[in-house]
Amino acid sequence: MRSFVKKKAPKVSAKARRDAVLRRITWRTKSTGNITFPAIPGLVDHYVEVLENLFAAMGRPFGKGAAASCRAMLAEKIEWAFERSHNASVSVDWKTDQGSATSLTYTVMGLAKTIEEAYAEWVKLRTPPLFGKHADARVMDLAATLGPPGEVTVLDAGAGDGRNSLPLARAGYVVDALELAPVLVEKLEAAARETGADVRSVCGSFYDRGLTLPRERYHLVVLAEVCSHWRGPRDLRNTLLRLSELVEPGGLGLFNVFLAHPGFKPNAVERDFSQIAWCPIYSRQDVAEACEGLPLSLIADESAADYEKAHAPKDGWPPTGWYVRWTSGSEVLDLPADQSQFELRWLTFRRA
Ligand SMILES: C[S@@+](CC[C@H](N)C(=O)[O-])C[C@H]1O[C@@H](n2cnc3c(N)ncnc32)[C@H](O)[C@@H]1O
Repeated sequence: MRSFVKKKAPKVSAKARRDAVLRRITWRTKSTGNITFPAIPGLVDHYVEVLENLFAAMGRPFGKGAAASCRAMLAEKIEWAFERSHNASVSVDWKTDQGSATSLTYTVMGLAKTIEEAYAEWVKLRTPPLFGKHADARVMDLAATLGPPGEVTVLDAGAGDGRNSLPLARAGYVVDALELAPVLVEKLEAAARETGADVRSVCGSFYDRGLTLPRERYHLVVLAEVCSHWRGPRDLRNTLLRLSELVEPGGLGLFNVFLAHPGFKPNAVERDFSQIAWCPIYSRQDVAEACEGLPLSLIADESAADYEKAHAPKDGWPPTGWYVRWTSGSEVLDLPADQSQFELRWLTFRRA
């Protein structure tokens, strides 16, 4: 008779057996995905940490040297995108490798959209009214100080879909609307046709001196919420320079801009993020320097939210779901209202 030796199972704890199963499960788990970060140069190390944790959670931790090469890749793409646009992000696509429990492949891409591209997307994703139901109270009130509407010429630069241009024209002002994004010019023109508002529209950039505007000089030049697209002191200087060219002597320039409350000096991450979040932070010193040598004097500096809240029609406050968050700076620093570090201000200039 043949004898069979019965092999006894070595003792393996339940925990060790479970871990053994999970290793095989990881091996068979498939994952693909994307994560897109705002392109902020000073946050590269934070983004590497996020990716490290994300990949580790899928059982694919960074191997030796992988964090450093990921950092180098991210830094290069972030810098590329941030330099080109404030609509800048960095996108990471990953895919677990077939037949491996430990590796995945990822690619990093920098994305930089133009203002025109950003608004072409914006109008598809958002429900009108895009920037509010009513004109800015500050714009209407300032225009009213300039004389009978039929004798007052207004340039609404960065007019968007005509939130200010159309009510100004309906009130009798002589209005030219200048707008960079073709998709918004189309909306403005359609609304003007529909409501019979007499607005002359021009598609182009406020900073383009080659652009022919219907008039050479205006009693009032307005840039409402256009500061969302400025990058730094050079844009502020160019805005004031262009204002001084387009406003007639004695006329007014009005724009809103994010100003740091006294005592707040944004660090590099806060400053860069404020540009990406469409609320670039300036100081009053920046404004003073940008005005140097120009025939402009600052005659009013008011909180945009306080002014609009106090003067908006009953059904016009807040103008949009994001207005209060945006104007108080909490798109960048998610702090309670009483800890706000900067805010949107209406600045009014008179041309000598
Ligand atoms: C936040 S929207 C505000 C629109 C409008 N002023 C309002 O308050 O409802 C900013 C607008 O400025 C426009 N813009 C940005 N840069 C511009 C430029 N260089 N020249 C003309 N328009 C510009 C954008 O395309 C956008 O329509």
